[in-house]
Parts: sequence; C-alpha cells; structure tokens
Amino acid sequence: MIRRCDPRDFESIWVIINDGAQAYKGIIPADRWTEPYMSREKLQHEIDDGVVFWGYEDSGSLVAVMGIQPVQDVTLVRHAYVRTTSQKKGLGALLLSHLRNMTNNPVLIGTWADAAWAIRFYERYGFQVVTPDEKQRLLKKYWTVPERQIETSVVLADPMWREQRSLIVP
Ligand SMILES: CC(C)(COP(=O)(O)OP(=O)(O)OC[C@H]1O[C@@H](n2cnc3c(N)ncnc32)[C@H](O)[C@@H]1OP(=O)(O)O)[C@@H](O)C(=O)NCCC(=O)NCCS
Repeated sequence: MIRRCDPRDFESIWVIINDGAQAYKGIIPADRWTEPYMSREKLQHEIDDGVVFWGYEDSGSLVAVMGIQPVQDVTLVRHAYVRTTSQKKGLGALLLSHLRNMTNNPVLIGTWADAAWAIRFYERYGFQVVTPDEKQRLLKKYWTVPERQIETSVVLADPMWREQRSLIVP
C-alpha cells in the first residue's frame, strides 16, 4: 500500500534512508559518505524545506520511501530509498510512478554520478541524464547543494522537461 507519510513516520523514514543508502558505501566518493548517511537533523531540514515523503507499507511497516518537492516551475523527486531486503521487487517503480502522477510539472531527479544502478532505474522510466552544463545550472537553480556535490552528481530529466527545454534552446 502506498500512503503519504506523516510526522509519526519520521523515525521509520530515517531508518529506511540509512539502510537503503548502504548501497552507496564504497561507491560514492569517500568524502561524501557519512555514518549515518543522513542525520535526523538533515532529514528534518529537508521536510521543513518542503519535501513530502510517500511510503510503501507492507504488513503495517514502511519498507520504501520517496520524497516529492515542488520547486518553482518543476517537481523534484528526492531521497528515494527502499530497504535493502526489499530492493528490486518493483517498490521503487511503484512509488516513482505514484509521485509522477501527482504533478503536471516537469520532473527532475538528482543522484550520485557513481550510483549506476539508480541512473539505470530512472532511465528505465524515461528519464535522461542532462549535459554537465545543464546539470550545473539546474542544481544551482532548484537544489541547495555544495559545489563538491555538484561535481559528483548527475541530474536526470523527464520527457516533459526535455520537450520544454528543446522549445527554448533549438
Ligand atoms: C534505486 C531504488 C530506489 C530502486 O527501487 P527498487 O524497488 O529496488 O527498484 P525496482 O524493483 O522498482 O526496479 C528494479 C530496477 O532498478 C535497478 N536497480 C535497483 N537497484 C539495483 C541494484 N542494487 N543493482 C542493480 N540494479 C538495480 C535495476 O534497473 C532494476 O532492474 P532489474 O529488476 O531488471 O534488475 C532502490 O534500489 C534503492 O533504494 N537503492 C539504494 C539507494 C538508491 O540508490 N537510491 C536512489 C537515490 S536517488
């Protein structure tokens, strides 16, 4: 069952993010890895900043979460994490599709350049990695990330964003 998370889910969201994020360990640049990967303070900051989490509940427990954040004229999909034991069972795809149906705006997603599996996952659903110049511009416009994270990230854009972009830049 997919449902919107509420403040009572805070601890579960935090646990799922840090469990799912184990996939990054030893893969993303060492200076970007922290233990835990995301602190409670950072998670609270993201929620205060407008990230709304949706989750997949199985037998009464959340096992996957994904955030949606409207920013200016686009929608960002943020912090997509499935519990290690529940990955590759289609839950990420269900949540992604659910969030995409909630917006009429173009959807953008940022992830680590080294997270090849995540890039493949989004590409499977029609997202494409934007050029390095576009990535710089988008991360500065829609996200609040340090310079080093810009270097080590990619941005993926959905077909609507690419179509609108092609009308502006022939
Ligand atoms: C990326 C993630 C959200 C996808 O959710 P999911 O429920 O596992 O994915 P689904 O079952 O819907 O889709 C599976 C597809 O995703 C990709 N994929 C997901 N995890 C993968 C992994 N560990 N290794 C290889 N491919 C993977 C593959 O393309 C896979 O297709 P396949 O079944 O043909 O191999 C989830 O695996 C996850 O939490 N990963 C760790 C954290 C992460 O990378 N988050 C993305 C942050 S933006």
